[in-house]
Amino acid sequence: MKCLFFLLGVLQLLAAATAVYKQWIPNTNFETASNWDKGRVPCASDMVRFEKHKVISILVGSPHALTDMYLPLNGEFLLASGAGFAAFDGSWDPGCDSGATVRFADAEHHAWFDPTLWQAVSRNGELEPSGRIFSVDEERVPCRYDDVIFQSETSFRVNVDSSRRVIHLRSISVMGQELSSPEAWAGYLRGPSAPLQFHGNGTLQVTGTSCPDKSGCACGNAPDGRRICAALLGASEGQCPAPACLSPLQPLGHCCGVCGATVNLDFTPDFDLQKYRDRLVQALLSQMAISKVHKAQTFLGVIPRSSTPLIQIVLIDDGAGALTGTTAEQLAADIMEDIAQHGEALGISRGRMEVATGSTFSGQAGNHPLNRITVGTVLGLLFSLLLLGGMLFLYRKGKLRLPALRVPRPWDKLEELMSPEAATDKGFDNPMYDVEPPSTDAGEDMPQEMASKDHQVFYLNPLYDASETET
Ligand SMILES: *[C@@H]1O[C@H](CO)[C@@H](O)[C@H](O)[C@H]1NC(C)=O
Repeated sequence: MKCLFFLLGVLQLLAAATAVYKQWIPNTNFETASNWDKGRVPCASDMVRFEKHKVISILVGSPHALTDMYLPLNGEFLLASGAGFAAFDGSWDPGCDSGATVRFADAEHHAWFDPTLWQAVSRNGELEPSGRIFSVDEERVPCRYDDVIFQSETSFRVNVDSSRRVIHLRSISVMGQELSSPEAWAGYLRGPSAPLQFHGNGTLQVTGTSCPDKSGCACGNAPDGRRICAALLGASEGQCPAPACLSPLQPLGHCCGVCGATVNLDFTPDFDLQKYRDRLVQALLSQMAISKVHKAQTFLGVIPRSSTPLIQIVLIDDGAGALTGTTAEQLAADIMEDIAQHGEALGISRGRMEVATGSTFSGQAGNHPLNRITVGTVLGLLFSLLLLGGMLFLYRKGKLRLPALRVPRPWDKLEELMSPEAATDKGFDNPMYDVEPPSTDAGEDMPQEMASKDHQVFYLNPLYDASETET
């Protein structure tokens, strides 16, 4: 085991706090320039226009002189102290001679389940240093045990259309007031503002309850997964960016395939998600998302039977071209090795690793359908995963394959790390575990040379290894 797990103790500071606070980003404040169709706050000679049938809840933070204002049928202005509207007295206002009609932009479409409208913050509303921890898309939207913050001194309007009737949350802060019991929230809902702030067919319910399970709690947004991805990919017409690896991984709860590695863990009652996350954070060289997810079990690969909870770790890195995902792959291998040594003490019964990197290997026979895709193409990769929302496009020119060339493969190294048995049969295949993605199954059936080397699955079972060597 490399000293990775002891190396970066400093990064421990990045360990996420237990409670997750998610803050709603948009507001409907009068003084927010982007809330107006002209991109500026109306000034004295402007005529202000609100659509007649659009419901509004608008915080006004300062006094405004206006020429005229058309109001909607239903809505409210929340006036901060000293704020208000006055008729324009005709005196000259420098910088405001336009006399335009300024309309309030449409806030109706801002959806609760749009992951781009939320950010993770600390308890007092400061932006969390995103560090190397990110969330899969479903978990960017508030989860069942999360605390939701609508910034104090902002007004807002949210569409809470949901596939669920009730959306549970631990607490909601509105206007600087934290509502963390069902009674306090019910009281707020009866007030004048709530019906103007929340619309749509979902109902928010505050429970005041934290996740009761030290092995973690699933986020609970899976029923609205489609809605979340539709919101996220709306701008690109539902299309995921082209990945930089041949067969990207499909982490549960994430909208688009990723290059890098995933490690899925089965756990025992001893498992502590927070402690384990802290353990990994010390070793992080790439971006990581870790959470409990529910994987649908299928019977004979068809009928959904039930779902099993497992701990999903998603690792990505900022390597480009052939290096895409290689740092993540290395870390995943280190995690697997750590589990082999300490899994039992950590409450991890089994680890399963999948890798998708940007390197394509020339030694393979060229008739795998996926291989054709790379020839002569430019692959673009959009890392939309970063909490910062930064976009990084990586391009790689496809190259011609030389069928006879053999190149050392990074997973040879991985296989060596495991038992010799595992190295020859590419891992321990548990017959009880029938939730393989079909693409992988197809790969296993193919001759060695024809299988896609871009997307590999490894199992590691410390108990299995131990018993094999003893007998
Ligand atoms: C709420 O409305 C949406 C359409 O916007 C629909 O897809 C969804 O099923 C509805 N949810 C409930 C709980 O009725």
